[in-house]
Amino acid sequence: MKVLAIETSCDETALALLEVRGSVRTPHIRVRKNLVSSQIAIHAPFGGVVPNLAKREHLKNLPILYQQLAKKESELKPDLITVTVGPGLEPALWTGIEFAKKIRKEHFPKTPLVGTNHLEGHFYSFLLTARNGPIRWPAIALIVSGGHTILMRAESFTKWRMLGETRDDAVGEAFDKVARILNLPYPGGPEVEKLAAQGNPDVIAFPRPMVHDKSYDFSFSGLKTSVLYHMRDNPRSLKADVAASFQAAAIDVLAAKTARAAREFGARTVLLSGGVAANKALRKKLSVMSRKLSVAFIAPPFRYNTDNAAMIGVAGYFAHLRKKRFPLRANGTLSV
Ligand code: KG4
Ligand code: ZN
Repeated sequence: MKVLAIETSCDETALALLEVRGSVRTPHIRVRKNLVSSQIAIHAPFGGVVPNLAKREHLKNLPILYQQLAKKESELKPDLITVTVGPGLEPALWTGIEFAKKIRKEHFPKTPLVGTNHLEGHFYSFLLTARNGPIRWPAIALIVSGGHTILMRAESFTKWRMLGETRDDAVGEAFDKVARILNLPYPGGPEVEKLAAQGNPDVIAFPRPMVHDKSYDFSFSGLKTSVLYHMRDNPRSLKADVAASFQAAAIDVLAAKTARAAREFGARTVLLSGGVAANKALRKKLSVMSRKLSVAFIAPPFRYNTDNAAMIGVAGYFAHLRKKRFPLRANGTLSV
């Protein structure tokens, strides 16, 4: 089955073409094309994503990417078209949905078009790794992005439930805000990581919010505020130490809750995904933790951590199999 996928939920315009073979239990996915046009340079002067600028850029980039995809794919005849319907920035989501409808109408009127949940896309991104062997279920999935921090328990590719999520800021958002406090450029996550690599994580004892709380929920707003107060009260603090201490605090909480969930539910695999999964310190911590618990650890390669359409293609494929019909309407707050 060939799947054409479109993603425009935030500041990346992305198109992908996948080939899916195998069964529902052991799917085999080949990414034939994975095109991403990043808008970082456009939004950087504003220190964050400006929805209407994102919309304008998506409108400009979608036909360009589609031409690139179609030009080299002489037999581009998808069996399924899928597009992100949420969560995300509504003006941005609409551009993808309208574009998907348009190409379907013009080129592939008989091909089914299904909506995809962006967070399910991040969840399924682990299938884009070069792995050997089937997944060992059950799994605990940690999804960490700019908009979400979610812990899930999955029994199979099509059956899962949410255990907890952030009650305020997402962890990626906390990285971005700490970057701003430290006067680092946008997007902040990778910059904080770079600076943290030069610092000592033991210098400042930032709080580990909700680490002892019984729930699987998170909270990162207080941690960010602690960084703000620390800089206000200690302006001569070494920024690298602040970045390293903040990062260690955030990662400690993520790892502790993931480990507890893995133990409680007898997980055989831990899955990590979302933009913050690009953070090497987080990957290392979860990988070491998983080894100690004797569970497999899977995180997709870097290009599939941040927003992309390949993961949307996989999620769209499974949504189609599950006969899950997300309405083709932009939904800013759609949850998993
Ligand atoms: O998944 P994503 O591309 O978009 C959303 O769906 O939100 O995630 C973007 C988030 C941003 O907050 C960004 O700062 C963060 O992921 N991020 C990182 C790193 N790379 C991206 N955070 C920490 N360390 C990184 N290396
Ligand atoms: Zn995302």
